[in-house]
Amino acid sequence: MAGTPDIKAYLQDKLKTRFMGRELKYLETAASTQDVAKELAEQGAAEGTAVIAGQQRSGRGRMGRSWLSPAGGLATSIILRPSMASVYLLPAICSLAVYRTLGKLGIKAGIKWPNDVLIKGKKVCGILIEHSLTAGELRYSIVGIGINVNFDTGSYPEIADIATSLSAQLGRELSIAEVALGLYTELEAIYTRTGEPDRIIDEWSKHMVTIGQMVSADFHGSRIDGRAEGVNRQGNLVVRLSDRSIKEIVAGDVTIRNRNGGA
Ligand code: BTN
Repeated sequence: MAGTPDIKAYLQDKLKTRFMGRELKYLETAASTQDVAKELAEQGAAEGTAVIAGQQRSGRGRMGRSWLSPAGGLATSIILRPSMASVYLLPAICSLAVYRTLGKLGIKAGIKWPNDVLIKGKKVCGILIEHSLTAGELRYSIVGIGINVNFDTGSYPEIADIATSLSAQLGRELSIAEVALGLYTELEAIYTRTGEPDRIIDEWSKHMVTIGQMVSADFHGSRIDGRAEGVNRQGNLVVRLSDRSIKEIVAGDVTIRNRNGGA
């Protein structure tokens, strides 16, 4: 398949980052790259260490869902050690890195709060961020990024209606190694700018297709419906309800109702 040359050799040759992806473990198959990265983090692996799997047998998604991860996708997990003060920026940083990577490949994407990446309303990338905390201290975060690069999402009934892939959008296959190269490069560029959180939040919200849409969300255990008006400085989604009150959604998922365009 175009896109599965020796990814590790390619990245070692081309990657110009300071730390992101510089240590890399490539596996043809893994249960979940999250678990492999966690094990490496526990052994003291350097920040930026990345794991890539050609396919995953039990890829994990957010909210206890599974993530379909056949050959032709990019499944990667990266070890980060952000400060406790900047950890809230990770969803913005990761989704922006994917957004920029796709942009450089000529693909106009959009971000669905908090960190899904969509093309024409269909999901092309999911991001799972897991943390290890001890006594209120953040030991490390594992950011897991799954991008549907070169496979036909239409042949998987469970995602056929809601997902797409880069190859379906471009009408040709891409090099998975090249996508990873772009991703690690953008990730480092944004991650090393956490000293300017407002710039990250502003760029993230500029590309967020959720804003302006009618959404449903879970708010402290009950469902709310309203219009997503924006994101605040903490990255929470600001929703205005029909009674004009404002609710700020901190975590979870939102469903966009009556989509009216956007990427
Ligand atoms: C979601 O949208 O629910 C998040 C999906 C995250 C998938 C990636 S693929 C690499 C890493 N390994 C996993 O098991 N999950 C993440």
